[in-house]
Amino acid sequence: MEVKNVAVLGAGTMGRGIAHVAALAGFETELYDIDGKCLARAEESIHRNLDKGVALGKLDPGLAEAAKQRLVLDDDLAAAVEEADLVIEAAPESMRIKIDLFREVAAFAPDDALFASNTSSLSITEMAAASGRADRFVGLHFFNPVHLMKLLEIVRGHETSEETVDTAREVGEQMGKTCVVVADVPGFATSRINALIGNEAFRMLEQGVASAADIDTAVKLGLNHPMGPFEMGDLVGLDVRLAILEHLHATLGETFRPSNLMRRYVQAGRLGRKVGKGVYTYDPEGRRLD
Ligand SMILES: NC(=O)c1ccc[n+]([C@@H]2O[C@H](COP(=O)([O-])OP(=O)(O)OC[C@H]3O[C@@H](n4cnc5c(N)ncnc54)[C@H](O)[C@@H]3O)[C@@H](O)[C@H]2O)c1
Repeated sequence: MEVKNVAVLGAGTMGRGIAHVAALAGFETELYDIDGKCLARAEESIHRNLDKGVALGKLDPGLAEAAKQRLVLDDDLAAAVEEADLVIEAAPESMRIKIDLFREVAAFAPDDALFASNTSSLSITEMAAASGRADRFVGLHFFNPVHLMKLLEIVRGHETSEETVDTAREVGEQMGKTCVVVADVPGFATSRINALIGNEAFRMLEQGVASAADIDTAVKLGLNHPMGPFEMGDLVGLDVRLAILEHLHATLGETFRPSNLMRRYVQAGRLGRKVGKGVYTYDPEGRRLD
């Protein structure tokens, strides 16, 4: 199946990144969010990232301009999806929200449109069944920041057709991603390991093993990870990280019980870079202040 029009639902950290790479890859792209203010911030951030690519000499100015032209922001769900060949959902990590959204979208999107979820850990098979188009439903797990990260995990639900997986791979490759196909198990291949490392880092901080900055430095210089677990947690969003751990704890067991300290950070509103404070603090441009 040929994909020309892509609709992205949810314009938060991930949705705006997915819309950026979709528009840059040549897809006519609609970006929808229930929160109008979030859409304005998303457009600003996509333009800023495209301009930065041009300023660094990594992106042709004409391509960046064409991407901006191909991107439409929409607070009307029906208008956003009515011509979509592929709908990519990037709403909050809640099965209830995602299922309700897919049911609503199914009423407006073309019958043959493919549906995809960017969930980090929830069941693709369950969402697919609720969407009424289980064979045309797939997981597309992008990584943050989407315009820089090379991997795309394609998650095959129980009923996902081979043709849908093939189309997902073509779309991913057109976006410049390297694709791996994984089974629909909680946490797929990447979130499962990543959630565990981030959780263990919070346990260590709580136990006084070392400061957050020293744990990050140890993991970067001793284990050769490009980012420390707290830097990564702040980037992902600690609320997102906590929701993933809660799901993995419920499905895979005690190993994934969320650290109490991480929970307290979320309760205190220290959600990470997106709100200017998490484990570290940030200026409005997202630069570390401490
Ligand atoms: N943050 C990451 O690093 C990361 C990485 C991979 C996958 N994910 C997954 O991507 C999804 C989105 O995560 P995020 O970090 O972008 O979250 P976010 O909180 O930054 O953004 C979510 C957006 O969805 C909007 N929204 C809420 N309800 C909606 C609805 N009914 N319809 C449309 N939009 C709605 C919100 O207004 C918000 O703008 C989650 O499933 C998450 O697990 C996140």
